[in-house]
Amino acid sequence: MGRRPSAFDSTLFSTQPTTTRPITRSLRPAITLAVSLILAALISSYAFAESGAETYKVHCSACHGAHGAGDTLLGKNLNLRDLRSDAVQKESDAELAAVISKGKDKMPAYGRKLSGPQIADVVKYIRMLKK
Ligand code: HEC
Repeated sequence: MGRRPSAFDSTLFSTQPTTTRPITRSLRPAITLAVSLILAALISSYAFAESGAETYKVHCSACHGAHGAGDTLLGKNLNLRDLRSDAVQKESDAELAAVISKGKDKMPAYGRKLSGPQIADVVKYIRMLKK
């Protein structure tokens, strides 16, 4: 009378070649890694949006307005260009970053107040205003 094979039998006393199981098991670190990379990418893109937006709100919105239109009392007095306009958006990231760090006309220079990555994030934020 043969017993019904149990899960216990099949793992410990299997006569099948066991090479297939270690392969699936060895994929697990790769899957874990892929999942954590995706999570890290999601979190960091969120963090960049957050810090670019924060920097803009704190340092730039008084003149340039919440949405870049320059529709503030200061902005209207300074005759600001809309940051969403083609005239501004057609400039390269490097050109925008240079204006931010060195200043322009009555715009103060931010090169000492903001770090390089903060300026890069705020440039990305200016690109997002367009959409
Ligand atoms: C005191 C008011 C003021 C503040 C604060 C200010 N700006 Fe400006 N910004 C100006 C003026 C004035 C100009 C030049 C006129 C123009 O181009 O519209 C300018 C121009 C710009 C331009 C257009 C670049 C170009 O070539 O014309 C960008 C981009 C810009 N500012 C980004 C920023 C960012 C980012 C911040 C915050 C870190 C900021 N500004 C803070 C007044 C300000």
